Amino acid sequence: MALTIGVDIGGTKIAAGVVDEDGRIVEHLLRPTPAKDPEQVAKTIGEAVGELAKGREIEAVGLGAAGFVDETRAVVRFAPNLAWREEPLQKKVSDLLGLPVVVENDANAMAWGEARFGAGRGESHLVCVTVGTGIGGGIVFDGSLYRGRWGMGAELGHMQVVPEGRLCGCGNLGCWEQYASGNALVTEAREIAEADPGRAAKLLEIAGGTPEQIEGREVTEAARQGDSAALGAFSAMADWLAQGLCDLAAVLDPGCFVLGGGVSNAADLWIDQVRESFAANLTGKGHRPIPDIRLAELGASAGLVGAADLARIR
Ligand code: BGC
Ligand code: NA
Ligand code: ZN
Repeated sequence: MALTIGVDIGGTKIAAGVVDEDGRIVEHLLRPTPAKDPEQVAKTIGEAVGELAKGREIEAVGLGAAGFVDETRAVVRFAPNLAWREEPLQKKVSDLLGLPVVVENDANAMAWGEARFGAGRGESHLVCVTVGTGIGGGIVFDGSLYRGRWGMGAELGHMQVVPEGRLCGCGNLGCWEQYASGNALVTEAREIAEADPGRAAKLLEIAGGTPEQIEGREVTEAARQGDSAALGAFSAMADWLAQGLCDLAAVLDPGCFVLGGGVSNAADLWIDQVRESFAANLTGKGHRPIPDIRLAELGASAGLVGAADLARIR
């Protein structure tokens, strides 16, 4: 059976796996992402893939990268939250490995994985939103991955939702990912704790005392213990998420949304609110089917499974 390797390159870890034609992971491994050094990132990918490829016949390699990938699927032109600028990732990795390599946006790869083998199976029109450090987007349109004219379509996290709003890693103000991502959750929680420490008593206690010490894990834990500030941060994130999904439904009319990314590990804390707020605010409601909002099924592996499949059908 023909095998390909998929790699998901995140801000903290690189996940690589050998994947078969049915989207099953045969073997996989994890490596920490070398901090902010593109040379080391390419090297680490090369080593990880080399290790997985040992003793196997590998047809091609797909790389999912968190940034704007060009239309030839070779160069990461820009990464708002990582160090890549005009990074010739395909060339670097294929030179190391001597195998065909395609580069894909990480969220596009995840959308493809979920559409083929996960929560979106059988849907010809779906929109995938990854809620992690930032917000990633992937659009499957009429059964194909939508890439836009220059490869950089579906950068859903950079829709500007707040005029003159929070500064984004992309350089603009008010992007959706500054309001509805994991980072946004932390920003929101810190703001509440700053303005009203009494309301955030539990959260501050868990975090170690000061608003700056609050990270995503603390917000989740405090929310589970009923902390009002932490719950407020989740609620704000859920409303922003729902609003963006409404806008996307107005434009794209998908059969379903698939939500993934790190923050969906705590989806029980926010998914109901997203569904309710989405149904309440969807344009034309009452006169159209309400698209399902599903959670990703392939979890943390969706990106690498999708990247491996995209390499197969390159
Ligand atoms: C980047 C996207 C990426 C997403 C999730 C965004 O900030 O612009 O390219 O898909 O984060 O990693
Ligand atoms: Na994308
Ligand atoms: Zn932005």
